Amino acid sequence: MRKKIVAGNWKMNLDYAEGISLFSEIVNMVRDEKKGDQTAIICAPYIHLNSLAKLGGDVVKIGAQNCHQSDSGAYTGEISAGMIKSVGCAYIIIGHSERRQYFAESDELLAQKTLKVLENGLTPIFCIGETLEERNNGSYFEVLKAQLEKGLFGLSTADFSKIVIAYEPVWAIGTGLTASSEQAQEVHAFIRKEIAAKYSDTIAEETTILYGGSCNPKNAAELFAQKDIDGGLIGGASLKSRDFVDIVKVFN
Ligand code: G3H
Repeated sequence: MRKKIVAGNWKMNLDYAEGISLFSEIVNMVRDEKKGDQTAIICAPYIHLNSLAKLGGDVVKIGAQNCHQSDSGAYTGEISAGMIKSVGCAYIIIGHSERRQYFAESDELLAQKTLKVLENGLTPIFCIGETLEERNNGSYFEVLKAQLEKGLFGLSTADFSKIVIAYEPVWAIGTGLTASSEQAQEVHAFIRKEIAAKYSDTIAEETTILYGGSCNPKNAAELFAQKDIDGGLIGGASLKSRDFVDIVKVFN
């Protein structure tokens, strides 16, 4: 059975007090209302990680949204996977489209970051996704395949078996435009087929693949009911405790 995950990505939102307040609500609601063995994760800005990891315990796991590809050194303003691990995080998002677009993160750089996350014993949530133009001109399968090949397919089988993938069509992020469940399922099945071709049917069958892009309590159940969709990476809706926990509860 593949691991089911609902991960919130707070992006650059919430000051310290706001983060503690929202997270405390989320932890209490998940503790009281989650019935299944799905994993709830919040990926928060760095300032929150230490406190949230202590508050979340085993109820809600914590992730970061990025890390540097080196262990340490003269990289002013950066943070390493080892530092993130040292405050109790278990996950790091790598290659979110906002990092690719606004910070020019290349597939090659993302491959280095992924390896560093794995070396530190954390789980990368590796994001891929096509733009609206690529969706409309029909090149999206090629684009996604190239992102997988350059970002992830250099990993050994043992390392690849530890990662989580998130498919986030760029045109659906923060726009209110969700991919239909058929569009999302089509891509998730494609990703699984590519993994099977590169690694094995077993590895493909065991890889958790999340959907992200305007996922909310109204559309999550239909999306997560698709055969190859194992949960979601949730942006805006993770900033509201009721909405986020309702999405977590889809797997109850
Ligand atoms: O990481 C999360 C995604 O970018 C989705 O964001 O749910 O606000 O569209 P969104």
